[in-house]
Amino acid sequence: MFGGRKLLAASIAVAVTLPVLAAETAPADVAFDDLSVTASLTGAPGNPEEGAKVFKNRSLGNCLACHVNADMPNDLFQGNVGPEMNGVAGRWSPEELRAIIVDSKKVFGEQTVMPGFYSLDVGVNVRKDLVGKTILTAQQVEDVVAYLGTLKE
Ligand code: HEC
Repeated sequence: MFGGRKLLAASIAVAVTLPVLAAETAPADVAFDDLSVTASLTGAPGNPEEGAKVFKNRSLGNCLACHVNADMPNDLFQGNVGPEMNGVAGRWSPEELRAIIVDSKKVFGEQTVMPGFYSLDVGVNVRKDLVGKTILTAQQVEDVVAYLGTLKE
């Protein structure tokens, strides 16, 4: 009984301190500096292998639906709505790539068909259960940025 209470108190303490440790930038707080987002959304560099998974996952990034990616030759149905991804790291800096993934509208203009993956500005008629949610988490954005940084040619 006593031990149970102690445990409860301990888990409350953990729940309260975790968000502070994570130090994630909320979607509304992402700072755009011209066409760049300079600071990592998580405060740390992403993981390129995880980013590749997010890139091809149809219910996460679904980037292949619109972008051909020569680095993923075994994945079928690569769309050509947007530019091919090979050499993208040579065309944009990591800070610019972060801005494109977070909110493509800020870089390409309102008319772009590319979704803002870490933006709450997703237009009207959004499914009710998705209101206030971003497509990707801060960690997933950083992982995708790290992955794109490997596509040098
Ligand atoms: C619905 C289609 C669509 C999806 C999905 C999409 N994009 Fe795009 N993307 C575009 C279009 C179109 C452009 C070109 C910019 C423009 O003219 O709007 C673009 C441009 C880009 C660029 C700049 C490329 C260059 O060479 O200039 C990058 C990088 C990029 N997208 C990454 C991604 C990533 C990463 C994902 C997945 C997380 C993604 N895109 C998902 C349509 C899409």
